[in-house]
Amino acid sequence: MTNIIDALQARVSSPKLCEPGPTRPQVELMLRCAVRAPDHGRLKPWRFVVVEGGGRDALGELFEKALLAKDSGASEQKRDKARSMSLRAPMLVVAIANVTTSHKVPVMEQVIATGVAVQNMQLAALELGYGAIWRTGDMASSSVVRNYFTLEPEDQIVGFLYVGTPVGEARPPVVQDLGACVEYWS
Ligand SMILES: Cc1cc2nc3c(=O)[nH]c(=O)nc-3n(C[C@H](O)[C@H](O)[C@H](O)COP(=O)(O)O)c2cc1C
Repeated sequence: MTNIIDALQARVSSPKLCEPGPTRPQVELMLRCAVRAPDHGRLKPWRFVVVEGGGRDALGELFEKALLAKDSGASEQKRDKARSMSLRAPMLVVAIANVTTSHKVPVMEQVIATGVAVQNMQLAALELGYGAIWRTGDMASSSVVRNYFTLEPEDQIVGFLYVGTPVGEARPPVVQDLGACVEYWS
């Protein structure tokens, strides 16, 4: 990818990821790109938890607890699935919108800024030669997971960004017809 326009248009998510994942300096570079997201009021409304190595097992156990809190009789298969979700990539970043409610900048804008930070990270990962996928799912809204990360009521888990080496050929990007979503007032 040679420039930002090409990179944005060619970008695809990679649902299947394997080792190797980014090195620590590369992760820091991704995080530096994240915190350059547009940020109304300079509130720095984000918090990132980088989960790698054995940290992924700990997150998997948390996901299993979250599943059991919702469904105490969950089958062994469902429990295995919950435990192994965090192992789908060599590393993942839990992106949290840690919002300020007593400020004139609306909470929604702070959540959006955190989302933009996630996308900055995703694009940085691609530029570094990795694949990534942004996921949420039930775990992002689970009270067990929210409590573990000490979220206040208005805070949000904006996503889990999984990063690693893509497995298999990348899917071609879906090209949307702009006519379906754009109008011009000239
Ligand atoms: C906030 C957010 C949450 C998402 N959650 C999931 C998810 O839980 N599972 C999933 O498969 N894709 C999820 N996606 C979509 C993928 O990240 C990805 O964009 C989608 O599969 C389309 O692929 P593409 O990015 O290659 O076009 C989410 C995207 C966003 C922005």
